[in-house]
Amino acid sequence: MDKRFIEESFPVKEVSVESAKEKNIRHGHISTLHIWWARRPLASSRATNYAALIPAIDPEKEPDKWQTTRNFIINFSKWENSQNPTMIEIARKDISLANNGNAPKVLDPFGGGGSIPLEALRLGCEVYSNDLNPVAVLIQKCTLEYPQKYGRPKEVEEWGTLEGKTLKNPLLEDVKKWGNWVLEEARKEIGKFYPKEPDGSIPVGYIWARTIPCQNPSCGAEIPLMRQFWLAKKANKKVALYPYVEGKEVKFKIVGQAYEEMPAEFEPEKGTVARAVASCLVCGSVVDDKTTRKLFRDGKSSAAMIAVVLHHPNRQGKTYRLATDEDNRIFEEASQYLEIIRGELFEKWGMEPVPDELITTV
Ligand SMILES: C[S@@+](CC[C@H](N)C(=O)[O-])C[C@H]1O[C@@H](n2cnc3c(N)ncnc32)[C@H](O)[C@@H]1O
Ligand SMILES: [Zn+2]
Repeated sequence: MDKRFIEESFPVKEVSVESAKEKNIRHGHISTLHIWWARRPLASSRATNYAALIPAIDPEKEPDKWQTTRNFIINFSKWENSQNPTMIEIARKDISLANNGNAPKVLDPFGGGGSIPLEALRLGCEVYSNDLNPVAVLIQKCTLEYPQKYGRPKEVEEWGTLEGKTLKNPLLEDVKKWGNWVLEEARKEIGKFYPKEPDGSIPVGYIWARTIPCQNPSCGAEIPLMRQFWLAKKANKKVALYPYVEGKEVKFKIVGQAYEEMPAEFEPEKGTVARAVASCLVCGSVVDDKTTRKLFRDGKSSAAMIAVVLHHPNRQGKTYRLATDEDNRIFEEASQYLEIIRGELFEKWGMEPVPDELITTV
């Protein structure tokens, strides 16, 4: 084979449209396996692989054939056709024909998240993939190798039932089993840092704010730096942290659906800081951006836990409550535990902790 189809022309615009659509697909897409920031869309990977493995068609000499192939590339790049057996069969045949009836060898030396090798496998090629990054290699193993090696459903005996044999996917079973094992082990070790609420919810997140001292000498209040006060800003669920002043202290209430009513004049999108310019809610004075940055550099900033995000295992969505002294105590306990574990691991691996002066906060 001399010149390939892709060297003559390629439906860039149409395949780009299909590639862009893929961003919204979650179910069944390899992007849900593990994040990989450079992952190429499957649509363009499938289309370019195919177009690079079939011979060029001269649009002047064979306009109909050229148009049909071009249309096929566009159609085949669609997500809904990625498992279309007829199209896959056609593509595999075309590729095999162009390669003396053999499966071409495809090597991706920089496979990353594995889009190109996965699509080459789909096209029936003999695929080799590589990456320097061990995370990418693991993603590739889980995408390209394990499903074919261990993911074929097997007939298994259902012990103790009268059902006889059923089909089970051993890979799915193992992922479930070991996923639960990790969860249980984690629960045993750190579950105490996530105590249940009286209603059975558990904390799943904490809202913290960095703080700086107000620079007005007669004030000196701690300014919580918050770009905005929204906790949830969906069409059907609007919840925010409402700041108010008590003495020299900024305090919060949770307002919105199912909480206290949101005050009419409150604009949650207006926070206390924008582009490092901070406003003190106690005295109204402003800290300019240079001073804010200097306070951080000089170690004058701090942080405060403001709210706790909760989830109930049997309910949809999240709820919120203000952070308490008990939450802060648990946080301290968890931090100390982390220090101990870190120390043990450093010792085990013979590593030195990073000196504090090398850790910078931006
Ligand atoms: C742009 S990404 C590839 C994205 C990939 N096509 C995909 O769909 O996910 C480039 C990849 O090359 C890898 N890489 C960079 N230098 C390398 C080297 N010298 N040897 C092997 N892999 C390398 C990176 O780790 C990264 O995963
Ligand atoms: Zn102030």
